Amino acid sequence: MRTTVGIIGAGPAGLLLARLLHNAGIDSVVLESRDRAYVEHRQRAGILEQGTVDVLREAGAGERMDREGLPHDGIELRFDRRRHRVDFPALTGGRSVMVYAQTEVCKDLIALQLKDGGPLLFEAEALAVEGAETESPRVRFRYEGREEVLECDYVVGCDGFWGVARKAVPAELSQVFERAYPFGWLGILADVPPSHDELVYARHDRGFALLSMRSPSVSRLYLQVPEGTDAQEWSDEEIWDELERRFETDDDWRLERGPITQKSVTPMRSFVHEPMRHGRLFLAGDAAHIVPPTGAKGLNLAVGDVVTFARALIEFRATGDATRLDSYSETCLRRVWQAERFSYAMTTMLHRAPDATPFDDRIQLARLDRITTARSAETDLAEGYTGFPLD
Ligand code: FAD
Ligand code: DHB
Repeated sequence: MRTTVGIIGAGPAGLLLARLLHNAGIDSVVLESRDRAYVEHRQRAGILEQGTVDVLREAGAGERMDREGLPHDGIELRFDRRRHRVDFPALTGGRSVMVYAQTEVCKDLIALQLKDGGPLLFEAEALAVEGAETESPRVRFRYEGREEVLECDYVVGCDGFWGVARKAVPAELSQVFERAYPFGWLGILADVPPSHDELVYARHDRGFALLSMRSPSVSRLYLQVPEGTDAQEWSDEEIWDELERRFETDDDWRLERGPITQKSVTPMRSFVHEPMRHGRLFLAGDAAHIVPPTGAKGLNLAVGDVVTFARALIEFRATGDATRLDSYSETCLRRVWQAERFSYAMTTMLHRAPDATPFDDRIQLARLDRITTARSAETDLAEGYTGFPLD
């Protein structure tokens, strides 16, 4: 099998890349180790930055998002039983975000790809990337019980944190920067209308809590829990009781309860692999970097990477100028590190570490107080949340 761009992984990064290349007349093959149902139902991110929304529309994948997505112009910060709204458009010159789940983005992109795109093979597991330093890199993969080879001009590893692409960068050229956090998020889906019309990020002495949503009738909520927690340790009633405590305010706001339909725990880490390119192998999305979810940046960063790659390849094929392809890693990493900084700042401002001291608590409250009283600090948050521009 032969193609121009071999794409490993059909998460948001791989699927969007296939669409961008297809729209530019460049052929690709997507290899995905899991089946279609798994990819379409894996519950993950929920917030699309303005730039991501624009890219999906331009790619012709924004129709259902524009119909069913929920545009949001702000978030609420909650601490000390107080509430503070951050108004994105007012602080950023009109930028906002969209609540539209990763599951739905993937469903839309898969449907488009199967309708008129290049091959998208499910249950096709990449085993290794070979010859990244040559003109014709290859992906060895297992499909329908046989081992096969995909010959490519370029390989893009969009295979997430646990994928194989990153392993093809020689250890002596790789640098890893990482941080683990001693807590995770217990996430639930519940059949109950969201108790607030915007997202609520709450800092509480008992830990962080987040209120989000999937639709006008489905809530998505998260609770900070100790690292290694098993979601089944928490009964539904205990989860609602704890959420209620952490969201408590001095006014008459109430958290509505409903049947919990899904429960899972996500570990939290910051991770960056440098460089993001080795020869003709390019890494994109979670394959190259992870952020803790507090800033809602993971999916959006993945989108930024593949847009950068697609633009660079399109330019190279049109003009012969490889400058953008050659600087792929540097271009992406600048944005990645801004998102790492933002996600780290949001995480450490809102979560309570198990060894937090009263001094740490006061610093967190002072940071939140600063955001609510200094427009410069609030603008910095709004700019980070709505997204860093693509070069
Ligand atoms: P992925 O979505 O991980 O896609 C990689 C794909 O590659 C997968 O489909 C995988 O099956 C496939 N693959 C892996 N190995 C191989 C192989 N060898 N061969 C072929 N295919 C392979 N972000 C937020 O902003 N908010 C959140 O609430 C949030 N929650 C998350 C919860 C979890 C449990 C995880 C893991 C991530 C979460 N994220 C969240 C991050 C966000 O979902 C990711 O940043 C985003 O999915 C990145 O997209 P991607 O396409 O790079 O990688
Ligand atoms: C969601 C996830 C996030 O990480 C976040 O910061 C906001 C919303 C969500 O799943 O809806």
